[in-house]
Amino acid sequence: MTLRTIDSLGPLAGKRVVVRCDLNVPLRDTVITDDGRVRASVPTLAALVAQGARVIVVSHLGRPDGAPDPRYSLAPVAARLGELLDAPVAFAADTVGADAASKVAALGDGEVLVLENLRFNPGETSKNEAERTAFAGELAEFADAVVSDGFGVVHRKQASVFELEQLRPSAAGLLIAAELDVLDRLTENPERPYTVVLGGSKVSDKLGVIAHLLPRVDALLVGGGMLFTFLAAQGHKVGSSLLEADQIETVQGYLTEAAERGVDIVLPSDVVVAASFSADAEHVVAPAEAIEQTPFGASGLGLDIGPETAAAFADRIRGSKTVFWNGPMGVFELAPFAAGTRVVAEALTQVDGLSVVGGGDSAAAVRQLGFEDAQFGHISTGGGASLEFLEGKKLPGLEVLGWQ
Ligand code: 3PG
Repeated sequence: MTLRTIDSLGPLAGKRVVVRCDLNVPLRDTVITDDGRVRASVPTLAALVAQGARVIVVSHLGRPDGAPDPRYSLAPVAARLGELLDAPVAFAADTVGADAASKVAALGDGEVLVLENLRFNPGETSKNEAERTAFAGELAEFADAVVSDGFGVVHRKQASVFELEQLRPSAAGLLIAAELDVLDRLTENPERPYTVVLGGSKVSDKLGVIAHLLPRVDALLVGGGMLFTFLAAQGHKVGSSLLEADQIETVQGYLTEAAERGVDIVLPSDVVVAASFSADAEHVVAPAEAIEQTPFGASGLGLDIGPETAAAFADRIRGSKTVFWNGPMGVFELAPFAAGTRVVAEALTQVDGLSVVGGGDSAAAVRQLGFEDAQFGHISTGGGASLEFLEGKKLPGLEVLGWQ
């Protein structure tokens, strides 16, 4: 593993350091509902502040359309960062405009400024390299050095992730280094048994990771909305549950490959079937092969793994030395369908070895269900990024930092 680290930038006291973080947190109105990514950004920022650098934080939030949109303002995030750093954090109402320029110029040694959402500028996510480079050039005007620490976004070839790092001396921050340290242990000689737990709604999002991991793992446990495509691949009827019919053949291929390789793909033996998609919907537990035989018939919806499955998954997880989990087991946001995700999360906290929760929804789920970060070996800040890393893909935001 090679990666340029902050030390390679030399002394940073008095230098303007642009830090690319991933502060893309879920918001309800302007309230942050999970500040995990803000907390994960603190060690690098605090280390730069301690050196006396002038710290300029940049990030995206959500997917605005290349123009300012108050729903995606980073203002609440800047306020939260100030609380976590226990220091004043300034905020610029634009990214490379007059307010940003004057606040960068006014920044003192050891002070922190957050610029407004990068994606309010079309150049950030443009498909056109020249447009991205032009926007990166404007950001580079504020920087003597660049620290890239937004692990969650390293799979994106975007101006602040890929081009900016080539315009100034650049290095990876502590979060990226820590993420790679753990994810590398999942790909290079993981301790066995190695179990991967996949959930979430779409099989099509997980195809790459399934293909890449099948030869490497001992067991693959499948829950979440994607389980119904697996059940359909085995010839079962799934009522009105989520189904990606165009993936059935691919999934059949994985089932065959797993059998040939001696890898256990463990599918649910029971599921929670509901009359409709709502917290107060009537629901029953049904065998996985009898989803349409509940009182709801063919309109029944599978919304969680059943208790027998959850217990079996938990046993497999607890008996493993390495576990990676991505994707909730059911619709955990609705209390009656959260049990499967809770049981799996609980089992991960009991692993005698390395347990890793892969970003996005799974990280939000464990926190929403009341678990503490410290109960897990590692909670990745990257959803798509951690999956693409485990798929063995080359990630532009890492390559540009010397990672190979
Ligand atoms: C994420 O939430 O996975 C990252 O912040 C990347 O966001 P994006 O998928 O909108 O690029």
